[in-house]
Amino acid sequence: MKTPVTVVILAAGLGTRMKSRKAKVLHQAGGRPLIRHVVDTALELTPAERIFVVVGHQAEEVRRAVSTPGIRFIRQTEQKGTGDAVTSGREELAPLGGRLMILYGDCPLLRVETLRRLIEAASGAGKSAGVLLTAQMKDPTGYGRIIRDSHGHVRAIVEQKAATTEQLAIREANMGIYCLHADLFWKHAGEIQPNPASGEYYLTDMVEILNRAGHTVEAVEVEDAREALGINTRLELAEVDRLFRGRKVTELMLAGVTIEMPETVTVDAGVRIGMDTIVEPFARILGNTVIGENCRIGAGAIVSDSELADDVEVGPYTLVNTSRLERGVHAGPFARLRMENHVSEGAHIGNFVELKKTRMGVSAKANHLAYLGDSQIGASVNVGAGTITCNYDGAHKHPTRIGDGAFVGSNSTLVAPLEIGEGAYVAAGSVITDAVPADALAVGRARQVLKEEWAKKRRALQKK
Ligand code: UD1
Ligand code: MG
Repeated sequence: MKTPVTVVILAAGLGTRMKSRKAKVLHQAGGRPLIRHVVDTALELTPAERIFVVVGHQAEEVRRAVSTPGIRFIRQTEQKGTGDAVTSGREELAPLGGRLMILYGDCPLLRVETLRRLIEAASGAGKSAGVLLTAQMKDPTGYGRIIRDSHGHVRAIVEQKAATTEQLAIREANMGIYCLHADLFWKHAGEIQPNPASGEYYLTDMVEILNRAGHTVEAVEVEDAREALGINTRLELAEVDRLFRGRKVTELMLAGVTIEMPETVTVDAGVRIGMDTIVEPFARILGNTVIGENCRIGAGAIVSDSELADDVEVGPYTLVNTSRLERGVHAGPFARLRMENHVSEGAHIGNFVELKKTRMGVSAKANHLAYLGDSQIGASVNVGAGTITCNYDGAHKHPTRIGDGAFVGSNSTLVAPLEIGEGAYVAAGSVITDAVPADALAVGRARQVLKEEWAKKRRALQKK
């Protein structure tokens, strides 16, 4: 039987170096809060019931960001260091036995394969009390340094602040990821003493403590040190964000998506895109957006939390938010699908058209300069340039319904609540305030007055 693994994620610190009112683990990289990335990785390793998150600063917000049923939380009332963070959970954690894997909430890039390697190494026979993850870093400033003995076992971790000049020259750094023999850890956890300089309880002191008790501690080196980047400042946040973006677009390209100038494109972790879709430069595809096959997302377009079927074209500089676009829809360039729209198969939304809570029927068209809010537009309706639904009377929002096959002339003002029947016509330039029955023509404008020769006479008068 496999040894069960309990994962503890430390996320109680404020992160002073971020210079923020927001707890560090709530900052976002790759479109998700840092803590969310770590939790998702942990969920691939072990069931939710074996995952614990240590919370302190903005505990409620962190809980909400985690939001996975089954995961439990440990309250660290005062942030007295990484050692104290783990021992705050002694009551719940100590009886669980097996392996204790400790992850830091500010290391979101870690891959599950790397953690599996760590668990494997910790499961070997012998006296080893645990394994930790290290990396050879070009610039390990800020990280704890790894002190090894002549056999290659890890004797201690020395924090940056406490390190001697010699120790500072060590390139091998502690990544803050440990897989420990749980019973041994809990047997000795009480021996961590407050650091003389900071007064904090350092988890890293456990390495020396376990060595003193006659156990060995091993290290697994991660191949790519970037994977274990810990975020302490906004500079590191930007770097990690860039790496997440790079990972995501690489994954998509290998799965058959064309991405032009991928270094300019932003795709959030939760996005899915089908084969043969083309993403143009500077597009941003965010949240839980799902895009089908053979679509095109234009340059500078922003698509968030939306669902696009196959063969959809979103033109350059178009914004699509919380909307559903069926097969073959064209939207943009320069269109704004503001919220909760449903655009049916083959419909066209052209430049400078704004939709809000609107349903466009099959093959309906609004090709230029329109505002359609709280509207139900039927199939094959043609909405002329400059059409405005007046959905707001200063106090309430009102709906507009336009029946299948209706034709709305350019520059029409449709004062809601309003119903236009199937196949009806609205003359260009009309202000429509009353219902238009099916197949009728509504003209709501002053009749044209024509004065023959008027201009000619005026010019003649001016010459005198
Ligand atoms: C820590 C390690 C260092 C390692 C580095 C890797 C210690 C003493 N040092 O330093 O060896 O190289 O990570 O990134 O462990 N936290 C709590 N409660 C606390 C303090 C911290 O939950 O009282 C959490 C933080 O929210 C954070 C994590 O622990 O997610 C790490 O804390 P941080 O202050 O960033 O430690 P580092 O100084 O980076
Ligand atoms: Mg850190």
